[in-house]
Amino acid sequence: MGWGGVIGPQARRLCYKPLAPFPNFPPHHFFLQVRVESVKMEVVKNLAILGATGSIGQSTLAVVAEHPQEFRVLGLAAGRNVELLAGQIGQFQPGLVSVQDEEAAGRLRELLPSGNTLQILAGPQGAAAVATAAGVDLVVSAMVGAAGLEPTLSAIQAGIPVALANKETLVAAGSLVMAAAREKGVDLLPVDSEHSALMQALQGQRREDVKKLWLTASGGPFRAWPADRLARVTPAQALRHPNWNMGAKITIDSATMMNKALEVIEAAVLFGVPVDRIGVYIHPQSIIHSLVEFVDGSVIAQLGVPDMRLPIAYALTYPRRLPLSGPPLDLGQIAQLTFEEPDVERFPSLRLGYEAARTGGTMPAVLNAANEVAVAAFLEGRLPFLGIPRVVEETMGAHTPRPIQDLAHVLEVNRWAREYAQRLIEEKGATNLS
Ligand SMILES: NC(=O)c1ccc[n+]([C@@H]2O[C@H](COP(=O)([O-])OP(=O)(O)OC[C@H]3O[C@@H](n4cnc5c(N)ncnc54)[C@H](OP(=O)(O)O)[C@@H]3O)[C@@H](O)[C@H]2O)c1
Repeated sequence: MGWGGVIGPQARRLCYKPLAPFPNFPPHHFFLQVRVESVKMEVVKNLAILGATGSIGQSTLAVVAEHPQEFRVLGLAAGRNVELLAGQIGQFQPGLVSVQDEEAAGRLRELLPSGNTLQILAGPQGAAAVATAAGVDLVVSAMVGAAGLEPTLSAIQAGIPVALANKETLVAAGSLVMAAAREKGVDLLPVDSEHSALMQALQGQRREDVKKLWLTASGGPFRAWPADRLARVTPAQALRHPNWNMGAKITIDSATMMNKALEVIEAAVLFGVPVDRIGVYIHPQSIIHSLVEFVDGSVIAQLGVPDMRLPIAYALTYPRRLPLSGPPLDLGQIAQLTFEEPDVERFPSLRLGYEAARTGGTMPAVLNAANEVAVAAFLEGRLPFLGIPRVVEETMGAHTPRPIQDLAHVLEVNRWAREYAQRLIEEKGATNLS
């Protein structure tokens, strides 16, 4: 049995006969493979990139810039960083762009050379138009937060494959997104390094042979901090991730371990595995990106330097691999790979993630929405670090979960949870939530 939405029919069409182990290669097969690959090299893939100005968006454009013969950028969607977007427009010449609102669209128009004819849209409809523009072969979904849900779903409903970085989409509306992907026969290719690792480790395996999926987590900057020190964490401290250079929200999520909670839910949805067959190891070096344990006791892991261009490039060209610049993995230099059990007492967000996943229905959307509000409040100095999981837990406690009906239902639950969490932060103040 295959791996559902991850490797759907479109990817299979690109996937020529799997390579035989090298020593058994009949020479004519080898040449056939080389010929097929060289023909495919000439096919340019048209991309729409949502969240172009973010960390993943910029890394995606770095991959594109390194392989201009492989890709054309048809559309870019961003939020409010129009200065960076204007530079990207100059370099990659998309036909269509979208920004968060009309105010940002006005600022962008002023930055572009007069007389240019670029179509500039705004708001969620603008992002959806970029995602579904004629000729787009692949959408890179890399907005942050639940804002990415609607344009990602629009792409899937239009039958366009998605390279998915925006994990909040799968957390908030996993059943909807996977049902739409199945109905349209659309591939969802994970960009998250852990899920990309799982996809790679699962290649050619039978579903029934898999015992457990293991996600690795760096543990973030406070892995070894005692609980009393965690109470005094500042945004500046939490924004310094030891291994990865990422956007602010996911960096805070890594520090609370909510990122791993979101990823456990993402893995359950994407690979169709019950959440209790997904484990987490703390692996501070971030070299092993995830592992699959099989029924015979064998474990397959994927390793690489912590550089998001690797999983991004793999999702862009799956099942091919592109050569990428940068230092190779040097295990002799790294010398030690270590592993620990996560501590859910000090990092309760991980426990909340498992609870939300087991409850299912609308609960993961509530967890995600409350977390987004709490992280924003922490970054603005309105909530202490330990208040983040408190807000999430209290909001989850106030919610009666229901099966997800449709997009409108998810959006309504998202709105409710955001308002509830916001009120909680305002009413209880910083002290009662610490
Ligand atoms: N960074 C990583 O290494 C990494 C790894 C795995 C998964 N991810 C996931 O990838 C996603 C993006 O992460 P990131 O680190 O790249 O985030 P980021 O650096 O904060 O970038 C977020 C992007 O989304 C745009 N955006 C935010 N709100 C928007 C809205 N309402 N409408 C339109 N655009 C909006 C931002 O635009 P402006 O900046 O122009 O306002 C920016 O382009 C997240 O879901 C994250 O969990 C990230």
